[in-house]
Amino acid sequence: MNKNHGYNGLLIVIEGTDGSGKSTHVNLLSQYIKNEGYGCVVSQWKTSRLISGIINEAKERNMLNTTTFSLLYAADYTDRLENEIIPALKAGFVVLMDRYIYTAYVRDSVRGHDINWVKNLYSFAPKPDLVFYLNVTPNILIKRLIAKNGALDYFESGRDIGISNDIYKSFEIYQKRCLEEYKKLKKEYNFIEIDGTQKKEDIHELIKKEVKIALENKFKK
Ligand SMILES: Nc1ncnc2c1ncn2[C@@H]1O[C@H](COP(=O)(O)OP(=O)(O)OP(=O)(O)O)[C@@H](O)[C@H]1O
Ligand SMILES: [Mg+2]
Repeated sequence: MNKNHGYNGLLIVIEGTDGSGKSTHVNLLSQYIKNEGYGCVVSQWKTSRLISGIINEAKERNMLNTTTFSLLYAADYTDRLENEIIPALKAGFVVLMDRYIYTAYVRDSVRGHDINWVKNLYSFAPKPDLVFYLNVTPNILIKRLIAKNGALDYFESGRDIGISNDIYKSFEIYQKRCLEEYKKLKKEYNFIEIDGTQKKEDIHELIKKEVKIALENKFKK
């Protein structure tokens, strides 16, 4: 994943732990890009029509071991890459990713896989033009996710890897481990780190500023 992708479009990623505000900013940014007159396509993690149903079913029945988990998510990504992401990039669209391969790097390594094994699995992935990383501490994530979903999710709390029977404790430990992994990746992959605890409007301004420059550089008339 070292070379620039070379397609006509622009590949922009928003990353961060569960509840960090990714979808909020993907939506706001997509509106901004469209208002500026560019074509924009959003691709969200685990939404492949072919694969996501299988993942959801396996999660519901709690029958995923960590390797199957990794491979199914990689298959979901690959299906979207071939059918959504690359065609849109070739056609000169801005493609906004709600999570990217870094989510797999983080989750799979927290679940015990060697990071190099995971990186290899996704070695064919196009390198993004910009990666925004929303950094939010677990105590704020807990409040946001409970307000949004009414409860903490089994997997978002790392219950599948048996950290603790106390869901709050499990959530905190799991999310801290994820944050540690993101911290390692942010330097290696030049993430633009944003303090995700700021107001949505302020975060959007920061993102817009960077994206405006990238749009001008890429689509200079
Ligand atoms: N900057 C912010 N300040 C306060 N609340 C926020 C902020 N950004 C998002 N939220 C709220 O936090 C919740 C989670 O946001 P959002 O769904 O965008 O996160 P996400 O990263 O996409 O989560 P998930 O990983 O579950 O998909 C939502 O209820 C959203 O309105
Ligand atoms: Mg989301």
